Amino acid sequence: MEELTTQEAAVLAIIRDNPFAGQQEIATALGLARSTVAAHIVQLMQKGHILGRGYVMPTPTRAVCIGGAVLDRKYHARSALVRGTSNPAESGRSLGGVARNVAENLARLGTATNFVSIVGEDEGGRTLLSHMRDQGIDVSQVLTSAERSTAEYVAVLEPDGELAFGIADMGIFDLFRPEHLDRIWPHLASASWVFSDCNPPAETLAALIEKRRDARFRLAIDAVSTAKAMRLPRDLSGIDLLFMNIDEANAILQREGREPLKDAKEAALALQAAGAREAIVTMGAKGIAVAGLEGARTFPAVRAKPVDMTGAGDAMIAGTLHRVISGDDTYAAARTGTLLGALTTESAASVHTELSERLLEANIHRLAD
Ligand SMILES: Nc1ncnc2c1ncn2[C@@H]1O[C@H](COP(=O)(O)OP(=O)(O)OP(=O)(O)O)[C@@H](O)[C@H]1O
Ligand SMILES: [Mg+2]
Repeated sequence: MEELTTQEAAVLAIIRDNPFAGQQEIATALGLARSTVAAHIVQLMQKGHILGRGYVMPTPTRAVCIGGAVLDRKYHARSALVRGTSNPAESGRSLGGVARNVAENLARLGTATNFVSIVGEDEGGRTLLSHMRDQGIDVSQVLTSAERSTAEYVAVLEPDGELAFGIADMGIFDLFRPEHLDRIWPHLASASWVFSDCNPPAETLAALIEKRRDARFRLAIDAVSTAKAMRLPRDLSGIDLLFMNIDEANAILQREGREPLKDAKEAALALQAAGAREAIVTMGAKGIAVAGLEGARTFPAVRAKPVDMTGAGDAMIAGTLHRVISGDDTYAAARTGTLLGALTTESAASVHTELSERLLEANIHRLAD
């Protein structure tokens, strides 16, 4: 193939990254006139780098995950931490964010997955995106911000593993404005399920719930934390499937003046009464409650030999969505969710590194134990 000029190569790189990019979008990104971009595209076709422009059809069953992409750092002190001085520690880095973890679980299970988030123009952002791309996740609709750095969570642990400090820089998610949902609308409109965590601002979550009313996709939401759960509107209608742990459920029910509930089933029914079509409330090893279209049912957790709880909640969500997308009812799907949650507690990583549809199948008997 013929050599490309620098500008042609730049245009090709953008198209390769996002085959949906319009000529004006490419022109703006490169600081060129639209007509110049059009001429480069003609050249790229003549030189054999582009076959043509077509109508792009969505994959029939596809999930979109919206929300947090976070760089997690862990510092494990060698001896008791002392303030105001340097403390020797062992460090480790991993990738997190509820929506990111859910997306990775879904992709590993074989569901076509598109991830929507915002990262900084920094090494962390590039690491997150390239890792997700390697998992086959479509990250073409992730925004990059020059204003803020990629979200980061730092855990400083005492020698015995107890958390001394948790430090969170999540400010970049404030830049996830409702307008971004308009920009990526074709990707949402063509999805079978859209999942969002509560990392985006309240206005963006409200806009997503509002947009769902006239759309074909169904909408699932996870609270992330008691503080972030408060970003959800009081009226939960428009949410098809709401995931919360018992503390998060109580946090949002309390703002309606309700006494805290100890029972997951009552909490799930209360979320349903507040407007959610279906709700799943989790209680760690104590199991889950599903308020579905045929009433509320509880299911025990799958017996596990846990080594690290990180990511269990996210895996539970992904296992459920994966099965719902495949046509299971919510009760049956949530049981697969509990299996994936349990498997994830048995892995040191926040997303099980050996995860596949086959691993899930090989462990399905544990649902009967
Ligand atoms: N010790 C355990 N044994 C078996 N399964 C577990 C255990 N802990 C968690 N799980 C599974 O993971 C699911 C989610 O856990 P949990 O209720 O702790 O959610 P969460 O508080 O949102 O967790 P996260 O902090 O990971 O978001 C549970 O519903 C259960 O299926
Ligand atoms: Mg959770």
